[in-house]
Amino acid sequence: VDISSDNSRVTASLPTGESVDVLLHGATIISWKSGKQENLWLSEKAVLDGTKAVRGGIPVVFPVFGPPPPNHATSKLPQHGFARTSRWEYLGKSTSESGALSQGGDDCVKLDFGLSSSNLTADAKKAWPYDFGLIYSVTLGRGGLQTVMNVRNEGKEPFEFQFLLHTYLVVKDISKVTVTGLMGAIYTDKVLNATNHTETHAALPITAETDRVYASLAQDTTSVLQDGKPRFDVVRDNLDDTVVWNPWREKAAAMSDFAPKEGWRNMLCVEVGSVSGWQKLEAGDTFEAGQVIRSLL
Ligand code: BG6
Repeated sequence: VDISSDNSRVTASLPTGESVDVLLHGATIISWKSGKQENLWLSEKAVLDGTKAVRGGIPVVFPVFGPPPPNHATSKLPQHGFARTSRWEYLGKSTSESGALSQGGDDCVKLDFGLSSSNLTADAKKAWPYDFGLIYSVTLGRGGLQTVMNVRNEGKEPFEFQFLLHTYLVVKDISKVTVTGLMGAIYTDKVLNATNHTETHAALPITAETDRVYASLAQDTTSVLQDGKPRFDVVRDNLDDTVVWNPWREKAAAMSDFAPKEGWRNMLCVEVGSVSGWQKLEAGDTFEAGQVIRSLL
């Protein structure tokens, strides 16, 4: 296993050709390759210097998803919280012979990143004055990528949070993509501003701007199919919700950091999380959850 790090990013690659590239800014995974194949979409105009959340890859959403609600402890935070715009610490690597991705032997590498209240900017700390510790583990294996968040309440009072992994997957052609694993689920349609829809598609085509929050999913796997063939399996662990997002033409055009302008044809966000309610964490308690993404090419 090859690992290199500098003061802005950590890169790891396996002898079999898989690689991952993680920015300390937001602990954002900006590349995950299986051989020559890139699995994550990253905008050509993504801002990587730490001044803005990254448009693409896997930004981490914590402690609030979307615009914060009024009259909540998160109300003063920016959209999607502060994790994606904070500078994380690289805590080190370990190789493992077991776990969700292991196929036997010394074939996985795990990179750990940390963020705690003491690392926050004064503004973020003031807006959300809780003592917490996050450990984000990124495991690269031959079979896929696993990303797990451990949240610890290090303070003396309980806090509430939401958490989501905002994964931008690469697709060849959005007009030939379908998503399975959602049927029967209740969702909020943020495009129509409507709640309580029930998904009726076994294989959901993406044919227009899509921004849906599926809550309390019964199945733990959401799959993305390209031309009817499985391309990605996204498997949730201890997370009940999944957001499916594609900005389509107009919304993509309105984002200054979205490029190329036709890039919406080649991406789909499938975002696992706990966002339809709040996770409450008592003083001293921890919460752990994440995903495994399998690239099926
Ligand atoms: C999705 C939300 O998760 O993120 C969308 O459901 C939002 O409503 C999108 O537009 C992108 O958010 P941002 O803050 O990265 O532009």
